[in-house]
Amino acid sequence: MIFTVTLNPALDKTLCIPNFSIGQVNRVESLRVDAGGKGINVSKTIKELKGESTALGFIGGKNGGFIKEYLDSIEIRNDFIWINNEIRTNIKIVDTINNTFTDINEAGPIVSERDLEKIKKKLFDYVDENSVVVLSGSIPNGLKSSTYKNIIQHVLPKNVKIILDAEGDAFIYGIKASPYLVKPNKFELENAFDIKIDNDLALVEVCRKVVAMGVEYVVVSLGENGSLMVSKDKALKAKGLKVDVKSTVGAGDSMVAALALSIEKNYEMDYALRFAAATSTANVMTEGTQTAEYEVIKKLINEIEIEEINI
Ligand SMILES: Nc1ncnc2c1ncn2[C@@H]1O[C@H](COP(=O)(O)OP(=O)(O)OP(=O)(O)O)[C@@H](O)[C@H]1O
Ligand SMILES: [Mg+2]
Repeated sequence: MIFTVTLNPALDKTLCIPNFSIGQVNRVESLRVDAGGKGINVSKTIKELKGESTALGFIGGKNGGFIKEYLDSIEIRNDFIWINNEIRTNIKIVDTINNTFTDINEAGPIVSERDLEKIKKKLFDYVDENSVVVLSGSIPNGLKSSTYKNIIQHVLPKNVKIILDAEGDAFIYGIKASPYLVKPNKFELENAFDIKIDNDLALVEVCRKVVAMGVEYVVVSLGENGSLMVSKDKALKAKGLKVDVKSTVGAGDSMVAALALSIEKNYEMDYALRFAAATSTANVMTEGTQTAEYEVIKKLINEIEIEEINI
């Protein structure tokens, strides 16, 4: 079973405002509300990929109720810890005339160390050696940057496979606890190691440093330039496909969903990368925060070009 953990979920409100102007009265042409937060997005894509997952995390207030109801309605198993405060609303403004996307993200409620202990216990009780745990997204106010490291160290004795998709200090601390797979984008990797990466070989070299820290697989997403997967003895690059891009929101999350399923199903590294690349490419071809379509993904799998980089 795959478990996704969303410590800081959000209600994503997407407003379509043609010709959005700062300092003016703007009219909303259309509006949609989605259950969001990175782990929840991963669970939604896993569902689209015909897999199963259980969504864990912290929710509270009316927005929390909306997220739970939504997940129940599309039959994604969930078992959240309820906190006293309302969870955040993230606003996404899509301007179809000027082709701009503006994000306004709230910080979210304060979560206590006591709440963290509750989620660690819940996760520990759920998982066994066949589990894949996805830790992704920002860490809520009130919890330390070492929170993911703390969770990983707590559940690792159960031999679970952990995917970490985090940035900044949460990523830097997290890799020290040896998760099974990490999925930074290039920018996150550059930040973590305080370097500029300008070619594939330099990229592979940094990934190998992460592998040397005890991480089995490093997958780096490169936006339109594709992705790279590095293990102890292999480096594979999936070239980016030129497609009609509708929205890049959640591209990384959809990639993580495909990687989680690949681990669960024991796919070979080559196929896992192909599957992850196809899923994320299909995702950018889909509007807004909606997930990619399975039929499109199946077609794209054969179109992804993989090349091996000698290491
Ligand atoms: N413009 C694009 N054209 C084609 N494919 C894309 C494009 N942008 C993203 N992708 C696909 O999605 C994958 C993940 O994208 P990206 O590197 O932007 O992730 P990310 O920065 O982690 O995103 P997120 O904001 O969801 O965390 C890429 O490796 C690629 O396969
Ligand atoms: Mg990302």
